[in-house]
Formats: sequence, C-alpha cells, structure tokens
Amino acid sequence: MRIDIISVVPKLMESFFAHSILKRAKNKGLAEIHLHDLRMYATGKNRQVDDYAFGGGAGMVLQIEPIARCIRALQSERTYDEIIYLTPDGERLAQRTVNQLSLKTNLLLLCGHYKGVDQRVRDLFVTKEISIGDYVLSGGELAAAVLTDAIVRLVPGVLNDETSALTDSFQDNLLAPPVYTRPAVFEENAVPEVLLSGHEAKIEQWRLDQSLALTKLKRPDLL
Ligand code: ADE
Repeated sequence: MRIDIISVVPKLMESFFAHSILKRAKNKGLAEIHLHDLRMYATGKNRQVDDYAFGGGAGMVLQIEPIARCIRALQSERTYDEIIYLTPDGERLAQRTVNQLSLKTNLLLLCGHYKGVDQRVRDLFVTKEISIGDYVLSGGELAAAVLTDAIVRLVPGVLNDETSALTDSFQDNLLAPPVYTRPAVFEENAVPEVLLSGHEAKIEQWRLDQSLALTKLKRPDLL
C-alpha cells in the first residue's frame, strides 16, 4: 500500500512517521508514505499557496492551482483509489471506513489549512471527505496522521501476532476487555483469577462478558 500526503507543513508529520509503527511498516516494505510540500507546486517567487476569500471574511483559502498541479503530477505516476480531503465537515471517521481503506493500494490525502481549500478542489478532485471528530484543528495534518496510523496498522504483517488488530476495540463493535500483566498482585489488588487459570475457553468467555459489560456501560450506542 502507498499513501501520498499533500500539505503546506509536511514537516509536522515527518517525525511522527519516522518513529511510529509506520516506520516498521516502511522498513518491512509493507507500506510507503510520501509527504508532498504544496509550496513546491506554487509559482511566483513567494511560492504563495493561499489567498483571501472571494466575498470577504476572515481567513485565507488554499488556492486550486498549486493543488491541481500537485494532484495531477501524482496522478501521472499512478491511479488513486481515493483522494481524501481531511476536513471537520467530512464523514466522521469510524473503524469500518478504516478497514475499507486498508484494503486499497494507493491513497492520496489532502490536508486543509487556514479556512480550507477552494471549493472547486473538492468538486473536481476529492472522492472522499473525512473528519476525525467534531472539533476544529488548525490544519488537516494531525487528522492525516491519525488516519494513516489507523489504516497502516491493519495492513497484514505490520502488527505482530500479540498486537493483532482483530482484538481491538471497535473491530467487532465491542470495546476491548481489560488487560493485565505481572505482577499478579499489586498492593493487594489481584488480577482476576480466571486469567491465571490457563483455561482457554473460560478466559475467552470472561473476555467476551467483560467486553459486553463495558460496551453497555460506556458505549451503548455501539450495541
Ligand atoms: N481539519 C481541521 N479539523 C479537522 C477535523 N476535525 N478532522 C479532519 N480534518 C480537520
């Protein structure tokens, strides 16, 4: 899988991708992530990528020309399964969408900034709009990093068995059960006995019961 990300501040994401699970995915040859600086596609000596909004109002708008140039340059190299714009008014991200996107080959992510992008970018190029929650970030970069992390960890081989994505919260619409490790007793607080029993079927049943109870309590909307 390959993910290309267009941003006016690609540096914001560089260290995240260099240190997270994404680095492992990259080193194993399972996922490639490429950052593209929008300014490189701007003309003029100031490499301007934004301008005032027609009709007035506060805030700058990312112009269509550098974005179109960048997207077309990337499209000349490969076909994208989706061109995704990260924006607070997009579809709220959920595991279901992450699962679907993890099966794709080429994704192109576009990060907004300031007041967002010229609407024509959305009309002409974008195939999917995603929000990571009902709050406004100062740019789409953190959202792109969140989305990329959630997708890439699902690519087969990226996670080890012990961190298998199949047992994640949300993967079966249930929250994950509690987990414990050594010591078995900490200041009189013992780990649930069943987990030390070695009885696999009983442990599975306990985990399912815990998942159901937790989901009912904290996220009944998932049931
Ligand atoms: N850009 C700014 N806020 C955002 C959000 N909540 N989700 C995705 N992109 C954004």
